[in-house]
Amino acid sequence: MKVQPPEAVTPFVAYHPSGDERFAVLDRTIEQYGAHPDALIQVLHMAQQLFGYLSSDVLRYVAASLKIPIALVYGVVSFYHLFALVPRGKHQIMVCRGTTCHVRGAAQILERLEQQLGVKESETTKDNVFSLHSARCIGACALAPAIAVDDDVYGKLTPDKIPKFCQKDLKKYV
Ligand code: FES
Repeated sequence: MKVQPPEAVTPFVAYHPSGDERFAVLDRTIEQYGAHPDALIQVLHMAQQLFGYLSSDVLRYVAASLKIPIALVYGVVSFYHLFALVPRGKHQIMVCRGTTCHVRGAAQILERLEQQLGVKESETTKDNVFSLHSARCIGACALAPAIAVDDDVYGKLTPDKIPKFCQKDLKKYV
């Protein structure tokens, strides 16, 4: 019986014309997880860590490297809140819009934060310090309505407490 040779595996060879070292690190991640669609989430995670957000150039590079359509990459990135298509601020403010927080005034809290920070949801303050987002539940329902700033949780808020929260609590992050 004739033994068949193993199927040839094409090694992953990537090259980004910019010469940006971060693409070399991204290439190593692709090598580690394999240049195929199953690696998409891990590769996107690493890309966001390296670049801070996922520019269209980075997304095109990931799509080409993993040999998947760019539309699929955009679909995944826009589905998951943790991926950013625009540069984010140094700190992330997450207003919980989950059911418990919602019935206790999360919408008014978000509105008040927008006024205080001078940005709309999903935007970043002019000084690039804070980006404002909302989430379905941040896991602090007992403290509803709640906000997270990076890993810190602030609970039992009311719209009237927001100005003081911005002047006092947010100052710690500046
Ligand atoms: S619903 Fe807001 S923390 Fe859970």
